[in-house]
Amino acid sequence: MQALSAISNHDLRDEIKAYWSLRAETFDSQPGHEIFSEEEKAAWHALFLKHLGQGQGRSALDLACGTAVVSHLLDDLGFRVTGMDWAEPMLERARAKAKARGRQIRFLMGDAERTMEDDDSYDVITNRHLVWTLVDPLACFKEWHRVLKPGGKVLIVDGDFVNTSKLTRLLKMLTRMASRAGLARDALHGAPSADMADTHNRILSRVHFSGGAHADAVADLLRQAGFSKVTVDHNMGAIHKAQRKNFSFFKGLERATQHRYAICAEK
Ligand SMILES: C[S@@+](CC[C@H](N)C(=O)[O-])C[C@H]1O[C@@H](n2cnc3c(N)ncnc32)[C@H](O)[C@@H]1O
Repeated sequence: MQALSAISNHDLRDEIKAYWSLRAETFDSQPGHEIFSEEEKAAWHALFLKHLGQGQGRSALDLACGTAVVSHLLDDLGFRVTGMDWAEPMLERARAKAKARGRQIRFLMGDAERTMEDDDSYDVITNRHLVWTLVDPLACFKEWHRVLKPGGKVLIVDGDFVNTSKLTRLLKMLTRMASRAGLARDALHGAPSADMADTHNRILSRVHFSGGAHADAVADLLRQAGFSKVTVDHNMGAIHKAQRKNFSFFKGLERATQHRYAICAEK
C-alpha cells in the first residue's frame, strides 16, 4: 500500500499557479514585464498591428494575462479585450490597473489549456510568456483553435530560455557579477529569491518544453492543432532596444541575444 505521505492531489498545474501567485507582487516592478517608456509601448503596438491589424471592436482573448500588460496594448488598439489567468493575485492587480486607467477590460479566472469559452467566439487570441510553461501544448493549441472564429488569429510571444548560446550565457554571468558589485540597477529589482528560482527550475524540468520552446517546435504543434499560415517573426529588435534603457548594460545585451519570437497563425 502507498504511504499516506506520498499521496498528493497537488499537481504540476497547481505548482505553476502557486508560483505565479507568489510572483504577482513584484511582477509589474520589473522591466521586461511592465512597460516603462512610450518608445517600448510603440514598439509593442507595432508588433501587434503588423500581425493582427487595428482592433476595430474585434474580440481578443489575452490568455495568461498576468497583470494585463498585453491586454492594455490590445485595448489601446481598439480590441474588445478579455484577459484570462488562473492566478488570483495576478488578476487582482490586473483589475486594479484597468480600473485606475479607466479601461473596460473584462477579466476571467481560468486555465488557458481549458478556457471553458464557446466555440468560434473570439477574433484573436494572444499570449506572452505562457507557451514555455504549458503542460500539454498540443491539446492547448487545439483548444485555442476551437475557441477562435474561422479566420481568427493567434499571436504567441515567447522564447527558448533553455538552449542559450555561449554569448547569452556569458552575458548572464556578467549581469550577475555586475549586480553583486552593485552596478546593475535592474538585476535584483523584484527578482525572484533563490527559493523561487529553485521552484522555477523544478517546474521547468517537468513541462513539455523542458528542453526549451524553440519557435520551430511551437510552429509545428500549431500546424498539428489545425492552424494554417503559421508565421515566425524574430524581428523583436525595436522592443529589445527600447527595453535596454531600463536594463543594466549586460542584461540588455543578454535579452537581445536570446531566441525570442512572435508566432502568428490562422484558423
Ligand atoms: C510570465 S507571466 C506572463 C504574464 C503576461 N502574459 C505578461 O506577459 O505580462 C505568466 C502568467 O501565466 C499564467 N499562467 C500560466 N499557465 C497558465 C494557464 N494554464 N492558464 C492560465 N494562466 C496561466 C500565470 O498565472 C502568470 O500570470
